[in-house]
Amino acid sequence: MMEQYKGVQLGELSPHVFAVADASYRAMLNDSMSQSILVSGESGAGKTETTKLIMRYLTYVGGRAVLDDRSVEQQVLESNPLLEAFGNAKTVRNDNSSRFGKFVEIQFDKSGRISGAAIRTYLLERSRVVQITDPERNFHCFYQLCASGKDAELYKLGHASTFHYLNQSKTYELEGINNEDEYWKTKRAMDIVGISRSDQDAIFRTLAAILHLGNIEFSPGKDSDSSKIKDSTSNFHLQMTATLLMCDPDLLVSSLCTRSIHTNEGIIIKELDCAAAAANRDALSKTIYARLFDWLVENINKSIGQDVDSKAQIGVLDIYGFESFKHNSFEQFCINFANEKLQQHFNEHVFKMEQEEYKSEKINWSYIEFIDNQDMLDLIEKHQCTDDV
Ligand SMILES: Nc1ncnc2c1ncn2[C@@H]1O[C@H](COP(=O)(O)OP(=O)(O)OP(=O)(O)O)[C@@H](O)[C@H]1O
Ligand SMILES: [Mg+2]
Repeated sequence: MMEQYKGVQLGELSPHVFAVADASYRAMLNDSMSQSILVSGESGAGKTETTKLIMRYLTYVGGRAVLDDRSVEQQVLESNPLLEAFGNAKTVRNDNSSRFGKFVEIQFDKSGRISGAAIRTYLLERSRVVQITDPERNFHCFYQLCASGKDAELYKLGHASTFHYLNQSKTYELEGINNEDEYWKTKRAMDIVGISRSDQDAIFRTLAAILHLGNIEFSPGKDSDSSKIKDSTSNFHLQMTATLLMCDPDLLVSSLCTRSIHTNEGIIIKELDCAAAAANRDALSKTIYARLFDWLVENINKSIGQDVDSKAQIGVLDIYGFESFKHNSFEQFCINFANEKLQQHFNEHVFKMEQEEYKSEKINWSYIEFIDNQDMLDLIEKHQCTDDV
C-alpha cells in the first residue's frame, strides 16, 4: 500500500491515511515548509493506530533503510510501544486508550531524510494511578511488571490483585494479550530507544515503589485527628517503599502523616487524620508517576536526538479524547478544554477563514452551518471585568 500511494497526487486513489501522509511529505519537500497533521476522532476510533501508520509511512519515504535497530527511524517507531506502556490503559471503550496527548515532530534534512525527532506530551491522566473503576485498568506497565516473574520477585511484588491501586477493578488481563510478553516488549523498546539497563531498573523500581506505597494504610493515632501506620502489613509496604525509593522510612512516615505549615513564626507541624494521610499518600504516588513519565519522554528525546539544523518538520498530533463522565474531574475539564480549543482552530481554518475568502472573492457559495464553540471558550478563558459586579 505504501508503494502504491508514494508520490501520487492526493485524491487520485481512494482515500487512505498514506495519501495524507504522502501529501504532507511532498508539500514539505516542494514548499520547504513544515507541516502538521491532526488526527481526531472519538475514543477507540483509531487515532493512535493512525498516528503510528503515518509515522511508519514517513519513515518509509524519509528513512535511510539502514537495517539497524538503533537508527533514528527505528527509535521514533519504538517510542510508541514504550509510551503506550506508561501512558495507555484499558477503558470501557478501548483496551489501549491513550491517557495523554502526544505531538510527534519528525525532523528532516535538506534532502528529505529523517534527521531527528521530538516528542511532546501533555495532560497525562494522573488520577488513574490511584483510582480506577471496573472494568477499566490502571496504566499497562503496572500489570506488565507484576507478571514479569523474576523481576517482580526482586521488588517483592505479587499478583496485581494484591495491590490496592490495581484491585479496585477486577480486570487484570486484556483479551489476546499476555502481560509478561508485553513486559519484555517494553524492555526491548527501552533498549532500542537507548535507555540504559541501570535506568531501566530505576524505572521499574519506581513503579514497584508506587504499588507498595498504595498498600500503606493508616489507623487513628494517639491524638484525635492524627494517624499512624495501620499494622505490620502496612509497615512491610512502607519499608519496601522506602527501600525502593532509597529514602529514610521514618521521614516517609512523617511526610505521609503530618503536614508542615510555613508561618512568620516558623514551621508548624500539623498532624493529619487517616483520610488526609491517605490523600497525601495518593498525591505522592501521582506526582512520582507523572515525573517518571516526563523523565521517560525527556530521555527518549535525548536519545533519539534533535536536528537543530533541520530544514522542515512534519508534526503529528494524536489528541487525547473528549469525554463526559458522571463526575468530571478538573483533569477531564482541562482535557475537554484542550479539545474545544482544537475544535475552534479547526472551525477557524476550515469554516471561518475559508468562507471569508469565498466571500471576498465573490464566489457564489452557500454557507455551511457549524456549531461555533467560541462562547464557551470565552466563558472559560476570557478575563471578566469585575467592575460592575
Ligand atoms: N487501522 C486499524 N487496523 C486495525 N485495527 C485498528 C485500526 N485502527 C484501530 N484499530 C483497533 O481499534 C483499537 C483502538 O484504536 P486506537 O487505540 O488507535 O484508538 P484511539 O482513537 O487512539 O482511542 P483513544 O482516544 O481511546 O486513545 C485498536 O487497539 C485496534 O484494535
Ligand atoms: Mg489513542
